[in-house]
This record gives sequence, C-alpha cells and structure tokens, in this order.
Amino acid sequence: MIMSVNYLEITDPTYRTSWKKRNQPGFVLVEPKQYWRIPIREPGWKPLPCCLTTRFKNMADEFRAMKVHKDDVWLASYPKSGTTWSQEMIWLICNNLDYEEARKKLLFMRFPFVEINGIADLPGGMDFFKLAQQMPSPRFIKTHLPVGLLPDQIWTVKPKLVYVYRTTKSVIVSYYHHSVTLSNYKGTLEEFTRSFMRDLQMYSPYHEHVIEYHKISQLDNVLLLNYEDMKKVSVKHSFQDLVSVVKRTCVFFNKSYTDEQIAELCNHLSFESMQNNPSVNAQEMVDMLLAQSDRLDERENEDRRFIRKGKVDGWKADLTQELADEIDDWTRSKVKSEKYQKLFL
Ligand code: A3P
Repeated sequence: MIMSVNYLEITDPTYRTSWKKRNQPGFVLVEPKQYWRIPIREPGWKPLPCCLTTRFKNMADEFRAMKVHKDDVWLASYPKSGTTWSQEMIWLICNNLDYEEARKKLLFMRFPFVEINGIADLPGGMDFFKLAQQMPSPRFIKTHLPVGLLPDQIWTVKPKLVYVYRTTKSVIVSYYHHSVTLSNYKGTLEEFTRSFMRDLQMYSPYHEHVIEYHKISQLDNVLLLNYEDMKKVSVKHSFQDLVSVVKRTCVFFNKSYTDEQIAELCNHLSFESMQNNPSVNAQEMVDMLLAQSDRLDERENEDRRFIRKGKVDGWKADLTQELADEIDDWTRSKVKSEKYQKLFL
C-alpha cells in the first residue's frame, strides 16, 4: 500500500516535557500526501498536518484507501462541536423517524466513529473501522478527521457529507471536560487551552479544520451545520432554530415530514431528552472509564457527563476573562479573513 501521509515528530518543548505528566497519549503530526483530488482549488493550498495519536499510524493508509459508497452518510466535525446531537438528528431524518430502533440500538453502533480504533485503545476489542466497513447500506459514518485525511473515494464517489462546527471557546471548554472525563486528563483547563492554542490537541489545528470544510461547502453533496444555530431559542417557539436546521437537513436528504413530526423530533433532540437517553448519552462508557481509573466517586459531578451542559455561552463559567480574551486574540492572529473570523468569535 502506498504511504498516503508523512509523520512529523512534535518538537514543541512544552509538549515534550509535560505530556506524560498530563496523562495525554503520545501525539504525532500526520501530514496528508497526494491531496490533489480534494476540490479546494486555491493556489498554494495544502492540508496542514493534523495532531493525532501515534496509534493512528496503524490505520492511516488503510483508512485513506477505504471504499466509500454513494449512499453513505458521512458526518464530520472537530471534537465537541455538536457531533452526537447532529448524528441523532441525521439518523432519524434518514430513517423515517424510527424512534423505536433509535432507542433500541446505541448511537455509536448505528453511526460508528470510524477512526476511533486509530486514536484510542478501546476496551472490549470492538473494531469500529471494521463495523463501518461491514454495515449494510446506507451506512452512517462519523469522523473527526480533517478534509485532507478523508478516504480518497470521498472525492470521486461523492456521498452526502455533513459538517458541524461550533465557536472556539465553547469547543475548548467542552473538549477539556471531555478529556478529563474520558481520558483522565490531569492538566488544568489553562494548560489544556494553551496546548490547544499551540495546535497540540487531538485533531488540531482547529481553525483550519473548520475553514477547510467551509471551502468545500459549495459542493452539492455537502451540508454545513452550526451548533449555535441549532441552539438559538426564539421567544415565540422554544425550538424555532432547531426547527429550521431540521428542515434544512430534511431538504438536503430529500425527506419530508409534517410540522407535528418535526416538532416531535425537536423534542426528542432537546438537551434534556438527549441527556436522559441511554442510546445517545454514552453513560455506560463514562461509568466504565471512571471505574477503570478509580474515579467512580466523580460520577455525580455534572462535568463528568458526556452530554454535559449544552449551552452556547457555558464557557463563561470556566474561563477567566483574560484567558477568553487570549483565545479571541489567538483566533484574530491565526485567521486574517473576516469572512472566516466570524465563524469562531
Ligand atoms: P458541552 O460540553 O458544552 O455541554 P460532541 O457530540 O461533538 O462531542 O459535542 C458535545 C457537546 O454537545 C457537549 O457540549 C454536549 O453537551 C453538547 N450537546 C449534546 N447534545 C446536545 C443537545 N441536544 N443540545 C445541546 N447541546 C448538546
């Protein structure tokens, strides 16, 4: 098999001296090669290396060569951007609102996270890459990989591809809590944020992740969703904007539902309903990981939930004003174009 990527060692001195202390996995930068099929036609554009765990080396080439089906549904995102929420919405829209099946079968089996075995050591030996490959059509596939590391056939077969994104400060805070909960991250929120701003958290760099998917969003088979749009609350109708996002998603998938059916779906997708839904809230996995790291006593801590706070400005409770301003300054310094800047601030 042809090597589809280069692996670059991380030279950042802070990372090198402190990753073990923070209980982080070993990272490597994965740089895509042969990206000419990606339909971003800007002179000089090339995908940036992506920060992943060294374990990704075991699957990078096989993944790039993965067979893609025309009727696949791919959902991509930077972690903590509303992926689970979008997965449940898309799966139900595409499966005739089959709530019974959605309750019976865990979301991560209906809509597998395709590269997870390439980034984490999973208990129980489940192989989600294999599961995704063997699923009956239409397959529903979640990925956090950037445009440059998607299977090559994405660009020739052109399945439907949805991308969801969320503002920077919310992503950082949510990602920090996620890392503490699921990976027993031992650093502080400030340390996490500083590594994030050096593009040294898994799937970073974040801005480019979002921008690259925006650059392919003119394609007919691509739909962009935004966490904040899904969350906006109207005075008249508490689900107003989730309603418009659901309707837009229905049009994208050529599906049509009555207003009552859409209202019922929005109810099902509300934060409270999802937080209490064992098919999507990953509580079993969280409990297992807390038990493994001898932290079951943290189970009652609200921040140790997978579906955690679900707020647009929840970061205000965690970030100091100084750190929040630093994050915004970082965005302004990295993203010069106003068109893209507004996606992040
Ligand atoms: P918080 O940690 O800020 O609460 P992902 O699925 O990409 O990992 O994203 C997780 C984030 O989406 C978490 O954010 C989670 O609470 C939020 N989320 C999940 N379901 C939601 C819903 N129905 N409404 C609002 N936010 C939701």
